[in-house]
Amino acid sequence: MTLLCEGRVAIVTGAARGVGREHALLLAKHGAKVVVNDLGAAVDGSGADTSPAQEVADEIKAMGGEAVVNGDDVGNFDGAKNMVDQAINTFGQLDILVNNAGILRDRMLVNMTEEEWDAVVHVHLKGTFAPTRHAASYWRAMSKQNDGPVYGRVINTSSTSGIYGNVGQTNYGAAKAGIAAFTVIAARELSRLGVTVNAISPSAYTRMTDYLREYTEDEIEERAPRWVSPTVVWLASEEAGDISGRVIQAGAGMVAVCEGWRRGAEVDAMEDPVALGPKIREMCGKVRKNSGMDGFELD
Ligand SMILES: NC(=O)c1ccc[n+]([C@@H]2O[C@H](COP(=O)([O-])OP(=O)(O)OC[C@H]3O[C@@H](n4cnc5c(N)ncnc54)[C@H](O)[C@@H]3O)[C@@H](O)[C@H]2O)c1
Repeated sequence: MTLLCEGRVAIVTGAARGVGREHALLLAKHGAKVVVNDLGAAVDGSGADTSPAQEVADEIKAMGGEAVVNGDDVGNFDGAKNMVDQAINTFGQLDILVNNAGILRDRMLVNMTEEEWDAVVHVHLKGTFAPTRHAASYWRAMSKQNDGPVYGRVINTSSTSGIYGNVGQTNYGAAKAGIAAFTVIAARELSRLGVTVNAISPSAYTRMTDYLREYTEDEIEERAPRWVSPTVVWLASEEAGDISGRVIQAGAGMVAVCEGWRRGAEVDAMEDPVALGPKIREMCGKVRKNSGMDGFELD
């Protein structure tokens, strides 16, 4: 078997269960040493318990791999630094950062509380920025020290809720769309160091999604979180150095590369809003509509 991440060191956030657990196990299977980060929170972000993360680290060790547990909150700037430092101090380097930790506080906009907004933005958006910021400064220092590129890899976690838009999730969707934008911009900034930054948009049957509807046995197998991880492991490898700034859907029977916002129909600038209005309506009729949650055009 070809090992895609032999000798590389990875952090996977929110790796105690669901999709993150599968990322950690498959990265370890491909030779990576893994920092298994997880606060051990409930779906809504409350509580803390590192024993599920310890179980994943034990599973990796039982298959002959190397792993340590980290219980920091990814949205805490100092905690994220501690996590990055732990990887470097324990395994001597850091090569891969998978930002996966997440929570949900769904609510229709008119009823959403400030706390529900802040909690979700904290874990997802700041929880992507903070670890990436500390990893990036480490990689910049390494690139200076080696006088050459490093093979750093960041794989963020967006969602169809963010890139396409899901009702009841203005907090989560805005954070996930922010992560997609963060991915594109960070990819541009870090390319000169030899660091790639991509995002996945997973679809998987986990405790975060099992309440949505009834699933058949076949659907549960097709949506098993392990189907998301091969994309992450390949993006994490040195082989994937030419792929950056992409958002890739993975899971539920497919892998699909997403296409972002782009300029559509246009007219010359107009001073008179009365005359401009009908032109805007005409252009809106000409361009492709926004996607539905399946990623295709709405009828
Ligand atoms: N399951 C899906 O279909 C789906 C779809 C779109 C996006 N996602 C995203 O995939 C990621 C994983 O989701 P999942 O379905 O595996 O959910 P999950 O609830 O099974 O796992 C999320 C993990 O993140 C941990 N966590 C929460 N807050 C944390 C914090 N502040 N610091 C560290 N760890 C924290 C939790 O303890 C939990 O173990 C999330 O970012 C989620 O938004 C999942």
